[in-house]
Amino acid sequence: MRLDRMLSDAHAGTRSQVKKLVKEGRVCINGVTAKASSMQIDPYQDVITLDGERLNYEEHVYLMLNKPAGYISATKGNVPTVMDLIPQYKGMFPCGRLDKDTEGLLLMTNDGPLAHHLLSPHHHVEKEYYVEHKLPLTDEDIHSIETGITFQSVTYRPARYEKISDTSCHLTIREGKYHEIKMIFESLGDKVVYLKRLRMKNLRLDETLKPGQYRPLTDQEIEDLKEGMPR
Ligand code: URA
Repeated sequence: MRLDRMLSDAHAGTRSQVKKLVKEGRVCINGVTAKASSMQIDPYQDVITLDGERLNYEEHVYLMLNKPAGYISATKGNVPTVMDLIPQYKGMFPCGRLDKDTEGLLLMTNDGPLAHHLLSPHHHVEKEYYVEHKLPLTDEDIHSIETGITFQSVTYRPARYEKISDTSCHLTIREGKYHEIKMIFESLGDKVVYLKRLRMKNLRLDETLKPGQYRPLTDQEIEDLKEGMPR
Protein backbone atom coordinates (compact mmCIF):
# COMPACT_ATOMS: atom_id res chain seq x y z
CA MET A 1 0.00 0.00 0.00
CA ARG A 2 1.05 3.62 -0.41
CA LEU A 3 2.98 5.14 2.47
CA ASP A 4 0.63 8.13 2.73
CA ARG A 5 -2.38 5.82 3.05
CA MET A 6 -0.70 3.89 5.86
CA LEU A 7 0.28 7.10 7.64
CA SER A 8 -3.19 8.53 7.49
CA ASP A 9 -4.71 5.20 8.63
CA ALA A 10 -2.29 5.35 11.58
CA HIS A 11 -3.69 8.80 12.41
CA ALA A 12 -0.48 10.63 11.54
CA GLY A 13 -2.64 13.19 9.72
CA THR A 14 -4.71 13.74 6.60
CA ARG A 15 -3.24 12.80 3.22
CA SER A 16 -2.01 16.37 2.66
CA GLN A 17 -0.59 16.62 6.20
CA VAL A 18 1.28 13.33 5.89
CA LYS A 19 2.72 14.33 2.51
CA LYS A 20 4.22 17.33 4.29
CA LEU A 21 5.64 15.12 7.06
CA VAL A 22 7.36 12.97 4.43
CA LYS A 23 8.73 16.05 2.62
CA GLU A 24 10.09 17.30 5.94
CA GLY A 25 12.01 14.02 6.31
CA ARG A 26 10.22 13.04 9.51
CA VAL A 27 9.10 9.62 8.30
CA CYS A 28 11.39 6.59 8.12
CA ILE A 29 10.86 3.18 6.57
CA ASN A 30 12.99 0.53 8.26
CA GLY A 31 15.32 3.25 9.55
CA VAL A 32 15.75 5.00 6.18
CA THR A 33 14.15 8.40 5.58
CA ALA A 34 11.19 8.04 3.23
CA LYS A 35 11.69 9.87 -0.06
CA ALA A 36 8.12 10.12 -1.30
CA SER A 37 4.68 9.64 0.17
CA SER A 38 3.73 7.57 -2.88
CA MET A 39 6.27 4.84 -1.97
CA GLN A 40 4.83 1.34 -1.63
CA ILE A 41 5.20 -0.27 1.78
CA ASP A 42 4.03 -3.43 3.47
CA PRO A 43 2.24 -2.24 6.61
CA TYR A 44 2.72 -5.62 8.31
CA GLN A 45 6.43 -6.10 7.52
CA ASP A 46 7.95 -2.63 7.32
CA VAL A 47 8.72 -0.56 10.41
CA ILE A 48 7.40 2.94 9.85
CA THR A 49 8.37 5.71 12.24
CA LEU A 50 7.33 9.34 12.61
CA ASP A 51 9.86 11.50 14.45
CA GLY A 52 11.47 8.26 15.61
CA GLU A 53 8.27 6.77 17.05
CA ARG A 54 6.88 3.60 15.60
CA LEU A 55 3.42 3.82 14.08
CA ASN A 56 0.95 1.01 14.45
CA TYR A 57 -1.00 0.08 11.39
CA GLU A 58 -4.65 -0.58 11.89
CA GLU A 59 -6.63 -1.54 8.86
CA HIS A 60 -9.60 0.73 8.69
CA VAL A 61 -12.66 0.02 6.65
CA TYR A 62 -15.13 2.70 5.55
CA LEU A 63 -18.41 1.77 3.92
CA MET A 64 -21.20 4.01 2.71
CA LEU A 65 -24.49 2.21 3.35
CA ASN A 66 -27.84 3.31 2.00
CA LYS A 67 -29.79 2.25 5.08
CA PRO A 68 -33.22 0.85 4.31
CA ALA A 69 -36.18 1.32 6.64
CA GLY A 70 -36.74 -1.57 9.06
CA TYR A 71 -33.18 -1.83 10.44
CA ILE A 72 -31.90 -0.34 13.65
CA SER A 73 -28.52 1.42 13.79
CA ALA A 74 -26.95 -0.82 16.42
CA THR A 75 -24.40 -3.62 16.50
CA LYS A 76 -26.67 -6.03 18.40
CA GLY A 77 -30.37 -6.52 18.84
CA ASN A 78 -33.33 -8.86 18.57
CA VAL A 79 -34.58 -7.00 15.52
CA PRO A 80 -32.67 -6.61 12.24
CA THR A 81 -29.65 -4.34 12.68
CA VAL A 82 -27.56 -2.60 10.04
CA MET A 83 -24.84 -5.18 10.78
CA ASP A 84 -27.07 -7.77 9.07
CA LEU A 85 -26.56 -5.82 5.84
CA ILE A 86 -22.75 -6.23 5.92
CA PRO A 87 -22.40 -9.77 7.35
CA GLN A 88 -18.86 -10.36 6.08
CA TYR A 89 -17.45 -7.35 7.97
CA LYS A 90 -16.41 -7.82 11.59
CA GLY A 91 -15.65 -5.18 14.21
CA MET A 92 -17.57 -2.47 12.39
CA PHE A 93 -20.13 -0.09 13.82
CA PRO A 94 -22.51 2.53 12.48
CA CYS A 95 -21.18 6.06 12.78
CA GLY A 96 -24.23 7.74 14.28
CA ARG A 97 -27.80 6.66 14.57
CA LEU A 98 -30.71 6.76 12.20
CA ASP A 99 -34.18 5.78 13.41
CA LYS A 100 -35.51 2.40 12.37
CA ASP A 101 -37.80 3.97 9.76
CA THR A 102 -35.17 6.46 8.46
CA GLU A 103 -33.34 5.71 5.22
CA GLY A 104 -30.18 6.96 3.65
CA LEU A 105 -26.54 7.65 4.34
CA LEU A 106 -24.94 5.68 7.15
CA LEU A 107 -21.17 5.45 7.46
CA MET A 108 -20.08 2.02 8.68
CA THR A 109 -16.51 1.87 9.93
CA ASN A 110 -14.07 0.48 12.49
CA ASP A 111 -12.27 3.82 12.81
CA GLY A 112 -13.08 4.98 16.34
CA PRO A 113 -11.22 8.32 16.23
CA LEU A 114 -12.97 9.32 12.98
CA ALA A 115 -16.37 8.35 14.42
CA HIS A 116 -15.59 10.41 17.50
CA HIS A 117 -14.65 13.38 15.32
CA LEU A 118 -17.87 13.14 13.31
CA LEU A 119 -20.18 12.56 16.26
CA SER A 120 -18.67 14.84 18.89
CA PRO A 121 -21.13 17.63 19.75
CA HIS A 122 -18.15 20.02 19.73
CA HIS A 123 -17.52 19.62 16.01
CA HIS A 124 -21.01 20.53 14.77
CA VAL A 125 -20.76 18.30 11.75
CA GLU A 126 -23.59 19.03 9.27
CA LYS A 127 -26.18 16.38 8.54
CA GLU A 128 -28.55 17.02 5.66
CA TYR A 129 -31.89 15.24 5.31
CA TYR A 130 -34.68 15.00 2.80
CA VAL A 131 -37.92 15.34 4.74
CA GLU A 132 -41.53 14.74 3.76
CA HIS A 133 -44.08 16.06 6.23
CA LYS A 134 -47.84 15.95 6.55
CA LEU A 135 -48.81 19.62 6.63
CA PRO A 136 -47.52 22.76 4.87
CA LEU A 137 -45.34 25.00 7.05
CA THR A 138 -46.17 28.63 7.78
CA ASP A 139 -43.58 31.39 7.56
CA GLU A 140 -43.61 31.42 11.35
CA ASP A 141 -42.84 27.67 11.45
CA ILE A 142 -39.91 28.16 9.10
CA HIS A 143 -38.65 31.04 11.21
CA SER A 144 -38.78 28.79 14.30
CA ILE A 145 -36.83 26.05 12.51
CA GLU A 146 -34.21 28.56 11.45
CA THR A 147 -33.82 30.21 14.84
CA GLY A 148 -34.08 27.18 17.11
CA ILE A 149 -36.83 25.47 19.05
CA THR A 150 -37.36 24.37 22.61
CA PHE A 151 -39.85 21.52 22.88
CA GLN A 152 -40.57 19.28 25.85
CA SER A 153 -37.63 20.89 27.70
CA VAL A 154 -35.16 20.05 24.91
CA THR A 155 -33.54 22.79 22.83
CA TYR A 156 -32.94 22.17 19.13
CA ARG A 157 -30.44 24.57 17.62
CA PRO A 158 -31.13 26.46 14.39
CA ALA A 159 -31.44 24.27 11.29
CA ARG A 160 -31.13 25.22 7.63
CA TYR A 161 -34.44 24.85 5.78
CA GLU A 162 -34.64 24.59 1.99
CA LYS A 163 -38.15 24.24 0.63
CA ILE A 164 -38.82 21.67 -2.09
CA SER A 165 -42.63 21.71 -1.97
CA ASP A 166 -45.32 22.60 0.58
CA THR A 167 -44.74 19.25 2.29
CA SER A 168 -41.11 18.43 1.53
CA CYS A 169 -37.77 20.06 2.19
CA HIS A 170 -34.07 19.63 2.79
CA LEU A 171 -33.16 20.21 6.42
CA THR A 172 -29.58 20.53 7.66
CA ILE A 173 -28.85 20.09 11.35
CA ARG A 174 -25.60 20.23 13.28
CA GLU A 175 -26.58 18.25 16.33
CA GLY A 176 -27.71 14.67 16.58
CA LYS A 177 -30.33 14.76 19.28
CA TYR A 178 -32.69 11.82 19.67
CA HIS A 179 -35.44 12.00 16.99
CA GLU A 180 -34.27 15.56 16.32
CA ILE A 181 -36.07 16.18 13.03
CA LYS A 182 -39.24 14.38 14.07
CA MET A 183 -39.35 16.42 17.27
CA ILE A 184 -38.82 19.70 15.41
CA PHE A 185 -41.83 18.96 13.21
CA GLU A 186 -43.87 17.66 16.14
CA SER A 187 -43.21 20.90 17.99
CA LEU A 188 -44.91 22.70 15.06
CA GLY A 189 -47.94 20.41 15.18
CA ASP A 190 -46.72 18.65 12.02
CA LYS A 191 -45.47 15.11 11.42
CA VAL A 192 -42.54 13.64 9.48
CA VAL A 193 -43.81 10.93 7.14
CA TYR A 194 -40.53 10.12 5.36
CA LEU A 195 -36.94 10.84 6.30
CA LYS A 196 -33.75 10.16 4.41
CA ARG A 197 -30.22 11.31 5.23
CA LEU A 198 -28.40 12.69 2.20
CA ARG A 199 -25.13 14.03 3.60
CA MET A 200 -22.86 13.95 6.63
CA LYS A 201 -20.09 16.61 6.68
CA ASN A 202 -18.87 16.50 3.06
CA LEU A 203 -19.90 12.90 2.41
CA ARG A 204 -22.92 12.67 0.09
CA LEU A 205 -25.06 9.59 -0.33
CA ASP A 206 -24.25 7.88 -3.62
CA GLU A 207 -27.70 7.82 -5.18
CA THR A 208 -26.76 4.81 -7.33
CA LEU A 209 -26.90 2.71 -4.13
CA LYS A 210 -30.32 1.16 -3.67
CA PRO A 211 -31.62 0.81 -0.08
CA GLY A 212 -29.58 -1.97 1.56
CA GLN A 213 -26.62 -1.56 -0.81
CA TYR A 214 -23.20 -0.24 0.20
CA ARG A 215 -19.81 0.55 -1.27
CA PRO A 216 -16.36 1.40 0.13
CA LEU A 217 -15.53 5.09 0.38
CA THR A 218 -13.00 6.44 -2.08
CA ASP A 219 -9.65 7.71 -0.77
CA GLN A 220 -10.83 11.25 -1.48
CA GLU A 221 -14.04 10.75 0.51
CA ILE A 222 -12.04 9.38 3.47
CA GLU A 223 -9.64 12.29 3.31
CA ASP A 224 -12.48 14.82 3.14
CA LEU A 225 -14.17 13.26 6.18
CA LYS A 226 -10.90 13.44 8.14
CA GLU A 227 -10.42 17.13 7.30
CA GLY A 228 -10.01 19.16 10.48
CA MET A 229 -9.30 16.11 12.66
CA PRO A 230 -6.56 16.57 15.22
CA ARG A 231 -3.53 14.40 14.67
N1 URA B 1 -33.83 12.97 13.11
C1 URA B 1 -34.81 12.05 13.35
O1 URA B 1 -35.86 12.40 13.85
N2 URA B 1 -34.57 10.78 13.01
C2 URA B 1 -33.44 10.34 12.42
O2 URA B 1 -33.31 9.17 12.12
C3 URA B 1 -32.43 11.29 12.17
C4 URA B 1 -32.65 12.60 12.53
